[in-house]
Amino acid sequence: MPKKLKIMMVASECVPYAKSGGLADVVGALPAALQKIGHEVIVVMPKYRSIDADKFAIKPALSPMGVWMGDTEEWCAVHSTTTSEGVRVYFIEADKYFDRDGLYHDADFNDFLDNPRRFAFLSKSALQLCIDIGFKPDIVHAHDWQTALAPAYLKVWHWDDLILGDAASFLTIHNIGYQGVYDAEHYEYIGLQWGNFTSDKLEDHGKVNYLKGGIQYADMVNTVSPTYSQETRTPEMAHGMAPYLNDKGGNYVGILNGVDYSQWSPELDPLIPANYSRDDLAGKKTCKRELQRRFYLLEDERVPLIGVISRLAHQKGLDLLSGAIERILEKMYVQFVLLGSGDKDLERYFAHLPVRYPGRAGSIIGYNNEVAHWIEAGADMFLMPSRYEPCGLNQIYSLKYGTLPVVRATGGLDDTVEQYDETSGGGTGFKFFEASAHSIYYTVGWAVSAYYDRREHWNQMVQRAMGERFSWDDSAIEYEKAYRRAIKNKRTL
Ligand code: ADP
Ligand code: GLC
Repeated sequence: MPKKLKIMMVASECVPYAKSGGLADVVGALPAALQKIGHEVIVVMPKYRSIDADKFAIKPALSPMGVWMGDTEEWCAVHSTTTSEGVRVYFIEADKYFDRDGLYHDADFNDFLDNPRRFAFLSKSALQLCIDIGFKPDIVHAHDWQTALAPAYLKVWHWDDLILGDAASFLTIHNIGYQGVYDAEHYEYIGLQWGNFTSDKLEDHGKVNYLKGGIQYADMVNTVSPTYSQETRTPEMAHGMAPYLNDKGGNYVGILNGVDYSQWSPELDPLIPANYSRDDLAGKKTCKRELQRRFYLLEDERVPLIGVISRLAHQKGLDLLSGAIERILEKMYVQFVLLGSGDKDLERYFAHLPVRYPGRAGSIIGYNNEVAHWIEAGADMFLMPSRYEPCGLNQIYSLKYGTLPVVRATGGLDDTVEQYDETSGGGTGFKFFEASAHSIYYTVGWAVSAYYDRREHWNQMVQRAMGERFSWDDSAIEYEKAYRRAIKNKRTL
């Protein structure tokens, strides 16, 4: 029997405590899947102001905890809870860093100026926590730039530590477009020694680059789909990281995200107006009607309803959609709903759309988990015109809800959606290749024509889509393999 592993996962988001995107879904689900196959996982994250301690039975665990940052010792406290699946979650309480509204930015989307310090501190304190509670991990698993310095701290400061000395490090890249690049003035505080401020490690054009540091120091790196792991080896898609990822060779892999079907399936979902299943789709009609009502659309069962749930960021291609949606609404008999927030121009554009297309277009600008579930359940198709997409979760949720995805064939979107075959009715969605308004227009048109004119195909696709399963159990097995490789690398490289 291979040894069961002890894993410390450090992340800036985790469902159900704090979420801005898919990262939180992953950190919320992967630990439980790993525990199911026998490993022991603890999660470390910030105690943000928005986290309701009573609701999640979060109790004080350790106080005070001293964390060395550069040559100053900072003090914090630690709280903890255990999830219903038995995963222990620790929250770092440091008021000057985490007791404010917002995870990364204020309400106007201005990044907090002390982000480099906040997340360096989180990464360092997660390691300190292991020492203070005597948790001896085989793996320290960091996620994205926010915690990418954990592998660096481990190698620079803890290589001969009793508790941490044997731990191998692992970095998951959820999005290479965000790297955490900051002025060198923060380097003293980060405390990783000036000798490591070199272009083969943490330095990047005179600044410090957290993600680059993580890639260099981690014993193993992965991203969240096989296709994105290939794309990020090319200069066009890697935001400057291609050489470093290529240098990792086989120590950089793609592992597809799974889905937490206890949260996202139409049979069980407590948030949607009516439950339904593959065998009985009646509830989906109710969900569509209620969604139309909620967004002030004409309550018509026959008109195809297109849904979007998204951060309004360049990555997601919604500026391209803004160049196509009016033509779509004018030329095709469809309805459209969008839920999202982010870029102010796009917020204004989509907020105004319903005024120009009353009864046909609806939008909610903001973040609302319940509405997200309603759209997954009530729409007929789900649109994701991303410029790049490391994995993408919404399209996978859509499949389960029988809401056919219309996506750009990139990254995880390409890996999870199977192209419609007009001759046989095969496939689970509609894919296009060019990132343009034109492609969106024609592909939506293709989907709409299938909806109206080839209904047997549509129904067949809905059945097939709902039968797909992207299970965390499978991904957890892949992570286990990659962890073991990281341990081997740590010993041999
Ligand atoms: P990303 O992490 O790049 O934003 P993903 O598709 O991986 O993209 O995950 C997005 C997650 O965030 C999904 O669970 C989605 O439902 C949720 N989400 C995104 N925007 C909103 C919003 N405005 N309101 C509620 N949930 C949202
Ligand atoms: C990132 C990516 C998204 C991915 C998510 C979870 O936010 O943009 O594609 O699904 O992380 O891994």
